[in-house]
Amino acid sequence: MNSTENGREKWGSKIGFILAAAGSAIGLGNLWKFPYMTYTNDGGAFVLTYLMAILAIGVPIMIAEIIIGRRTQLSPVGAMTKLGGKRWSWLGWLGVITGFIILSYYSVVAGWTLEYVVKSITGAFIDKSPDQVTQQFVDFVSDPFRQVFWHALFMGITMFLVLGGVKGGIERSARILMPILFIIILILVAVSLSMEGAGRAITFLFRPNFSELSGAGFLEALGHAFFSLSLGMGAMMTYGSYMHKNESIPNAALTVSLLDTVIAILACLIIFPIVMTFDLEPTKSAGILFTTLPVVFMQMPGGYYFSILFFTLVAFAALTSAISLLEVVASYFIDELNWNRKKSTLITGGAIFLFGTLSALSNGAVGWLSNFNFWGRPTTAGFFNTFDYLASNYLLPIGGLFIAIFTGWILTKSLKEEELSTGGKTYFKYSVWDVLIKYFAPVAVGIIILAVLLGKEFQ
Ligand code: TRP
Repeated sequence: MNSTENGREKWGSKIGFILAAAGSAIGLGNLWKFPYMTYTNDGGAFVLTYLMAILAIGVPIMIAEIIIGRRTQLSPVGAMTKLGGKRWSWLGWLGVITGFIILSYYSVVAGWTLEYVVKSITGAFIDKSPDQVTQQFVDFVSDPFRQVFWHALFMGITMFLVLGGVKGGIERSARILMPILFIIILILVAVSLSMEGAGRAITFLFRPNFSELSGAGFLEALGHAFFSLSLGMGAMMTYGSYMHKNESIPNAALTVSLLDTVIAILACLIIFPIVMTFDLEPTKSAGILFTTLPVVFMQMPGGYYFSILFFTLVAFAALTSAISLLEVVASYFIDELNWNRKKSTLITGGAIFLFGTLSALSNGAVGWLSNFNFWGRPTTAGFFNTFDYLASNYLLPIGGLFIAIFTGWILTKSLKEEELSTGGKTYFKYSVWDVLIKYFAPVAVGIIILAVLLGKEFQ
């Protein structure tokens, strides 16, 4: 298949967009954050709310982003300017800035997963007590050199893959990494479900009890749908700009959202049987992934291999997400300033690396752990905290809100109908999508933003 169409580089195959977009969506958000949030929000009702948020807000906004990207064949700044005029270009800019900020600390956490792959391989957890494993983590995050080293390596790998371009780099790495990810996850699920606590885990996850879900939990579910699907900063817009004209946008959005959701649920099916079986009380911090699971792995038959597989999986997932973040930033300079891909990737990636060292070096890295919460507020100073708080609580939801408003109210009906009608039969009717993107999504997301601005109690 020809990789260019109207001069724009394109995915090499029909499944290219879906693979790359799923790679972007599936990341640390699914494998760690979702299980953790599910735990603190008492399971079933939170999971059900999240699923509804994905369908009623996430999918419509993803469709909107893809429409804008594919229509203009441009990355966010150019795309918004082309369709909405100069007065909308700020929305593209917001995406570039948000991507820059998110990747700067996302890469640091991703770097931690690399450290843990190596720790797993060298058998660092063997015969260690839970306290010792926790201490290993504390030692690691207070070691600036090691953190910067892994952060540099992770950014280096991300840049290398983005350098390869749309077809060679991004699509090929997703094509190889995503199936491996699925296979590893399925193996881990099978092992976990054979554990004694599996039944309790399933009840916990799938029996909704709405009296247990707080208002804050409800909002967290809505917010996480956003983060997990990589929405609100033009990542899906950028990937959509490489999509072929003859593909169905609603079907692609539905498939990507389904894959992302399945992985989040499977991650819970890996983690909760372990938690239940070993009677583990997960700490209310990001540390759970790094301080708790190694202990469990070491108590299990084959746990040595289990832990290598698990942390490798997390690193892969983080990598395909990081690629999408860098692509948004790099493609701005490619599209708007006519830099070539190499120059753009090296300069923007290098700048993000440097900016990220602030997070890696700040003591906030540890503070962030205990405070990592999509809708929470930072309680400790530190760059880590501040950047995550800013991006997750304000930049993404604001971006998403205006993408919904723009698509719902500014774009013409004929443009939208045309974009949605290509690619054959779809399961997401235009009229349904129209109501969701015009009314439901803006109102719901608006409420989330207001709640965060006004309510300090949302923890
Ligand atoms: N969705 C990814 C995750 O779950 C993170 C991510 C990648 C992201 N690209 C994004 C989040 C763009 C928001 C916007 O880990």
